[in-house]
Amino acid sequence: MSTKIIFDTDIGWMNDDCMAAIFALKSPDIEVLGITPVMGNFDLNYEMACALRLLELLGREDVPVCRGFDRPLLHERSPYADKVWGKWAMLEDVKDIPPGLPRLQPDPRHAAVFLAETVQAQPGEIIIVAVGPLTNVAVALRMYPEMARQVKEIVIMGGAIGRLPRGQGNITPAAEFNFWVDPEAARIVLHSGANITLMPLNVCRRSYFARSLYDRIVDPGSDHPEVADLFRQYIGPRFDDPELDRREPVLFYGVFDHACLAYVIRPEIFDFVSMCVEVSIQRGIDYGTSHGYIKGGYVSGEDALPIDSNIEPIKVAYDMDFDALVELYVSALTGR
Ligand code: RIB
Ligand code: CA
Repeated sequence: MSTKIIFDTDIGWMNDDCMAAIFALKSPDIEVLGITPVMGNFDLNYEMACALRLLELLGREDVPVCRGFDRPLLHERSPYADKVWGKWAMLEDVKDIPPGLPRLQPDPRHAAVFLAETVQAQPGEIIIVAVGPLTNVAVALRMYPEMARQVKEIVIMGGAIGRLPRGQGNITPAAEFNFWVDPEAARIVLHSGANITLMPLNVCRRSYFARSLYDRIVDPGSDHPEVADLFRQYIGPRFDDPELDRREPVLFYGVFDHACLAYVIRPEIFDFVSMCVEVSIQRGIDYGTSHGYIKGGYVSGEDALPIDSNIEPIKVAYDMDFDALVELYVSALTGR
């Protein structure tokens, strides 16, 4: 039986969110009930166009795409954000996207309403896979707090846990991008009491996109030639970069979010630790950083902190069998 998910994402054209969306849409183990874009990697207009066009190209016009938030709850656009990555508040008219603009129209429901109503209609059945800033999910939980009990699980790509291996930030020295874009939203979700699994940078950094993986996806024997075409057209040229190691060309960017989907299909390929995770909402260098700790009543010097915290521990993935993920990915994308 396939697992029902809603895919909450800052999708761009063939970025890792987009490749993860293809993974979900093609996997026989996953049923995508809807896609809810949220600003993050790109501004929301661009993301909406990418999501709708992807569905057209995959022949999946049946999947609703609901427009989410076009900016974080409190975090304002800044010269730093514009310079390093964040284009969330640009909200420009989209004149074109690489495969051309979609004809398909968005579903009229707001993403937060769609998330909550869909979960409420099938309590205990739906996993929210959130691979962008958590604004849509946070607002849904604030509007409909009962959703925290009704959702089967929220699987989040976000955060970087300094106490675990590979825990440095990727947008500031210690903060991960999705949490840093909307730290207040991340905090609301982590405090919600929902059943949460976190895929922080620690585990996602075990991923890479090798030329050998690309070759398998574009194999002429693939049962999904439309997917092979997308990869040939938009990923293939990235391997022409003269900076890449010619012996084993590898793309390090763009393969983080698919870990959440591999988890939905085969959770046993991941290693977990149970931790309380807090997100700093103090403005300054700590803004958006995440801190994981084992709840305890005393200071051990190691794990326990003397924090009178009311949050419950969540499952934090810190490592995985990456070869197993690759097999799941290839099998979904090629049908073989
Ligand atoms: O920090 C990694 C996250 O931000 C991923 O979701 C990826 O899409 C990037 O934009
Ligand atoms: Ca993302």
